[in-house]
Amino acid sequence: MHLIGAVALAVCFGTCAVSAGIIDHPDYASVAGLTHEEVELYERSIKVVGAQPLPPAPTDTSFKLVHDKNHPFVKAKSGDQRGPCPGLNTLASHGYLPHNGVATPAQIMNAVMEGFNMEYIAAMLVTYGAFIVNGNHLTNLISIGGMSSKTGPAPKPPALAGGLSVHGTFEGDASLTRSDDFLGNNHDLNLTLFNHMVDYMDKFGNGRYNIHAAAEYRFARIQESIATNPWFFFGNPRFATGYAESTFPLEFFSNDSTIDWERGTSLENVKSFFLEHKFPDGFHRRGTPFTPSGGTHPMQPGMNIGRVNSYTPVDFNQGETRGTCALYTRFVRVTLEMYPHPTKELSKALAGNIHNFFQAVKDVGCTELFPFN
Ligand code: HEM
Ligand SMILES: *[C@@H]1O[C@H](CO)[C@@H](O)[C@H](O)[C@H]1NC(C)=O
Repeated sequence: MHLIGAVALAVCFGTCAVSAGIIDHPDYASVAGLTHEEVELYERSIKVVGAQPLPPAPTDTSFKLVHDKNHPFVKAKSGDQRGPCPGLNTLASHGYLPHNGVATPAQIMNAVMEGFNMEYIAAMLVTYGAFIVNGNHLTNLISIGGMSSKTGPAPKPPALAGGLSVHGTFEGDASLTRSDDFLGNNHDLNLTLFNHMVDYMDKFGNGRYNIHAAAEYRFARIQESIATNPWFFFGNPRFATGYAESTFPLEFFSNDSTIDWERGTSLENVKSFFLEHKFPDGFHRRGTPFTPSGGTHPMQPGMNIGRVNSYTPVDFNQGETRGTCALYTRFVRVTLEMYPHPTKELSKALAGNIHNFFQAVKDVGCTELFPFN
């Protein structure tokens, strides 16, 4: 029983005590380039929006109907972006996010708070962590799936405003229902994996996605990646997000006013979100804001080193004492690597968004970084 494993999920969002080493994965540096002149020309031709103020915290966090008549299900049409996150995909189907799957960070924060009752600071942390590495800082838009011209022209490589599906920035290995990027399609649901998840629900959760199914399946997916993906990476940030996402179905896809980890959520709900990107009929969001929180973990953060079954521990914290600060530092450092020579306008937008991101970790006591000021 790997119960602790899934409880750990949030671990590193809060107080991850795992320790340290820096391994960089510049998988994002893969797009053919624009010259500096082309970029400047381009910047003059688009409307530069730049970083915007954070949305306010919500006032209403009650249990309420969210699959209501103002938010009917509309299936994605060709050209609409959908990606590795069943939560955001569903919000786009119901108009909590634009149906085309291209949104501002404020729209994403508001949508996850309104549609799922994700807690304000948690929503800020996840949204801005993803935005600074996968979003377009000049247009203030991000795709919840793959690269899209709707977010505006691509920045100069190695930057890549490629959306959430870009591997090795936010998106990572050992997902519940998506293949490791090295092994296949990292963003669309893989039905074989989905069926494995359902097997674990049958075996450990009485047919439901509960804490036991979540914990066992999380552990199994890690073991599968260790055994099949020579470049399996489960360090910073993926260790924290991977564990966290395992509990998201328990926390967000349940229709009950009180979340019960033993009870979990039904197969019907799991199918609706994962397979159809749809709120089940009559779906109510949870009755309390959810923020990932503490625990411990049986797995060490680590990675395979070029061959299968070579899992080697890595230091998640990378010199930081607090896991949340390590996560913050990691995302900021990756962003800095992506934008080695930003133009003035771009520096300003980057600095603004990184400052917004810091608001999610300042109460933990992290040191603010100013790479673009
Ligand atoms: C706050 C903004 C959010 C962002 C930017 C975001 C982004 C992502 C990304 C990039 C992944 C892929 C990670 C991977 O598997 O490699 C992911 C996975 C996932 N997200 Fe989100 N997410 C957000 C909020 C939510 C919410 C509110 C929910 C639930 C309602 C949710 C549920 C999930 C689940 C269950 C997965 C795992 C899917 C799988 O492994 O098959 N997310 N998310
Ligand atoms: C789906 O997952 C299975 C099991 O890991 C794998 O064998 C298959 O290649 C995957 N398919 C795709 C399209 O990635």
